[in-house]
Amino acid sequence: MLKEFTSLFLKHTSPSRRHLTPELVLRLITPSCPLWSAPVEDSPFTDPFWGFYWPGGQATARYIMDNPAIVSGRRVLDVGCGCGAGTIAASSVRAKLAVANDIDPYAVIASKINAEMNENKIETDTNNFIGTGCSGFDVILIGDMFYDEEFGKLLFTWLTTLAKQDKLILIGDPGRHGLTESRRSQMTLLANYVLPKEAREENHGYTETSVWRLNKT
Ligand SMILES: C[S@@+](CC[C@H](N)C(=O)[O-])C[C@H]1O[C@@H](n2cnc3c(N)ncnc32)[C@H](O)[C@@H]1O
Repeated sequence: MLKEFTSLFLKHTSPSRRHLTPELVLRLITPSCPLWSAPVEDSPFTDPFWGFYWPGGQATARYIMDNPAIVSGRRVLDVGCGCGAGTIAASSVRAKLAVANDIDPYAVIASKINAEMNENKIETDTNNFIGTGCSGFDVILIGDMFYDEEFGKLLFTWLTTLAKQDKLILIGDPGRHGLTESRRSQMTLLANYVLPKEAREENHGYTETSVWRLNKT
């Protein structure tokens, strides 16, 4: 599986710095890749979320790189890592441990390849952490995971429990409907970024993206 996926991944992605963290080069499915405009039935992948750097993830990674002290020396879990940028950002600013977590095993392979391209060391994990205590971690990164109301509810309830246990929860989001006003009222806005042209074109309608910290209470 690893060998076959790696060769398909290298074939269908290209290195990109056209995002909010140009310090990091990431292999992504970009407009220069034939797969970008290919019909769905021609794609060798099902739901390649790892092939894109989502606006929420871009915000979280940018924030970490601009504010290294919030993760340096701490143990960071990047839940729903996708291409792995959040984990790589955490590792690059000296997190004690940076774990790329995704229930899609291809996402953690993509994350590892992207980490290697940036000469970065990360750990990976494909377990579903939602609902668990995350005892081995101090910081939880959530990049663009509020795309669905039902899942958003599950995620938010879990994250609220973790915040009460003094874990730092950083949520990157461009304004998805799952991050409702009531949920936003329980968070502190840390930063807002204008999305680069490529990300705006890729995410029709979104022009900005933000990073929030979930409050303890
Ligand atoms: C919209 S993508 C965001 C990827 C990345 N965080 C970013 O912002 O670029 C959401 C990711 O969450 C992953 N995911 C969904 N449910 C998950 C779960 N319970 N645990 C870990 N990852 C999950 C998906 O496989 C997908 O890679």
